[in-house]
Amino acid sequence: MAALALETVMLAVCVLAPAARALDNGLALTPAMGWLHWERFMCNTDCNAEPDNCISENLYMQMADAMAKDGWKEAGYEYVCIDDCWPSASRDAQGRLQADPKRFPGGMKKLADYVHSRGLKLGIYADVGTKTCAGYPGSFGYYDLDAKTFADWGVDLLKFDGCNMPKWTLLAEGYINMSKALNNTGRSIFYSCEWPLYEWQYTQPNYTAIRQYCNHWRNYADVYDAWTSVTGILDWTAEHQDLIVPAAGPGGWNDPDMLVLGNFGLSLDQQMTQMALWAIMAAPLLMSNDLRNIDPKSKALLQNRDVIAINQDPLGKQGRRTAKVNNFEVWERPLSGGKLAVAIINRQEIGGPRFFPITLAMLPSWKFCNPECNVTQILPSYQEMGIQKLLSTTNVQVNPTGTALLVVTPSTLDPRLHEKWLYFHRDNKANSIL
Ligand SMILES: *[C@@H]1O[C@H](CO)[C@@H](O)[C@H](O)[C@H]1NC(C)=O
Ligand SMILES: *[C@@H]1O[C@H](CO)[C@@H](O)[C@H](O)[C@H]1NC(C)=O
Ligand SMILES: *[C@@H]1O[C@H](CO)[C@@H](O)[C@H](O)[C@H]1NC(C)=O
Ligand SMILES: *[C@@H]1O[C@H](CO)[C@@H](O)[C@H](O)[C@H]1NC(C)=O
Repeated sequence: MAALALETVMLAVCVLAPAARALDNGLALTPAMGWLHWERFMCNTDCNAEPDNCISENLYMQMADAMAKDGWKEAGYEYVCIDDCWPSASRDAQGRLQADPKRFPGGMKKLADYVHSRGLKLGIYADVGTKTCAGYPGSFGYYDLDAKTFADWGVDLLKFDGCNMPKWTLLAEGYINMSKALNNTGRSIFYSCEWPLYEWQYTQPNYTAIRQYCNHWRNYADVYDAWTSVTGILDWTAEHQDLIVPAAGPGGWNDPDMLVLGNFGLSLDQQMTQMALWAIMAAPLLMSNDLRNIDPKSKALLQNRDVIAINQDPLGKQGRRTAKVNNFEVWERPLSGGKLAVAIINRQEIGGPRFFPITLAMLPSWKFCNPECNVTQILPSYQEMGIQKLLSTTNVQVNPTGTALLVVTPSTLDPRLHEKWLYFHRDNKANSIL
């Protein structure tokens, strides 16, 4: 009896222990939400030819306007983020970075004020090496000065790229030094790193250290506007989930890169898959699209409150792939209140809609639906499926390359079962059925 009690206590301690120490700047308690220019607008600096689509202060002011007036802010999107190609080709006489004077005539301070006046936050971009990826001045040797410059401008987020580091062995030091430099400014600045992405070419990154210094971090290749890009990111994430999922939690998150919904390359089903899986992965929701002109279906999906609630769930645990069956993939994410989010992707790219039979008893974590669960389908459409018993079978229909997203709520929450279930998710026992 005493031994059993002790075991229960230890289990509880394991479950409650936080992933690892997170960067302590008060930010990223849930994944960041906002907009980032890169995937859609890239390095378009030709404002004569394309005044509305070039990297200029107008672009961010117009996106901020759209975010404030079209429901984005209310849905939780708050950061308006600049990527590469904003700076002038040279630093100023004091060695400070400066915005390109033609494209940012008002300067960055004024742009930050504008974005703040809309109730939003401004993100900026720099690089840990000698030059940015597009060849603009890098921050190597200037970390303290650049952090201070960004703080003086009123910047709220820094995306720190990893190109052109003189030696890859300096990457960790460079990212850590910039983290400390941001802290020293006294301004809370969200720190978005690409440290593991650049280290992976040489070595397995130390995620304990990364979590200690960054609010989110890119692991894998840039997203682009295509289904193969989304599946490539999902496959990489599933293959590395034992390593990267435990690193995520309040304060710091894995970043599978931007949401490309609302552009040209993904069908509506594929857009649902990206949205659903970014929620399961507790990913930052940084859209890269044109909010001034976006398809109403993409907009509705990006603003879907039930999907966003899964993404922002306060328990702060990243989900993982728990099964591959008959060209379906099942991904699960534990939520607060003993709930579970389940995504079922139809990875078959031929034929029509297929039925996936849900037997609550079939998948390991669903066993905690004992004796029954209340099942609600969130995507492709909201549908209350009602009480499901452990051994009853319901079918969900999933289009090719689409996803059904469900929320499963145990009807009675047995706290001991719930602890075991969280423990199961922590240690990924589900791998045994893959
Ligand atoms: C700087 O770091 C300290 C210690 O981790 C923390 O308490 C403080 O809030 C941080 N300040 C900022 C501005 O991030
Ligand atoms: C990081 O900061 C330390 C201490 O100031 C310094 O010795 C080191 O050279 C810096 N590394 C890089 C890559 O800037
Ligand atoms: C990883 O980083 C942590 C925290 O900085 C450190 O304590 C640990 O020794 C590092 N692990 C390895 C294998 O270098
Ligand atoms: C099941 O969940 C839905 C959605 O939260 C709710 O509206 C419904 O009342 C629940 N049904 C039962 C029987 O608890």
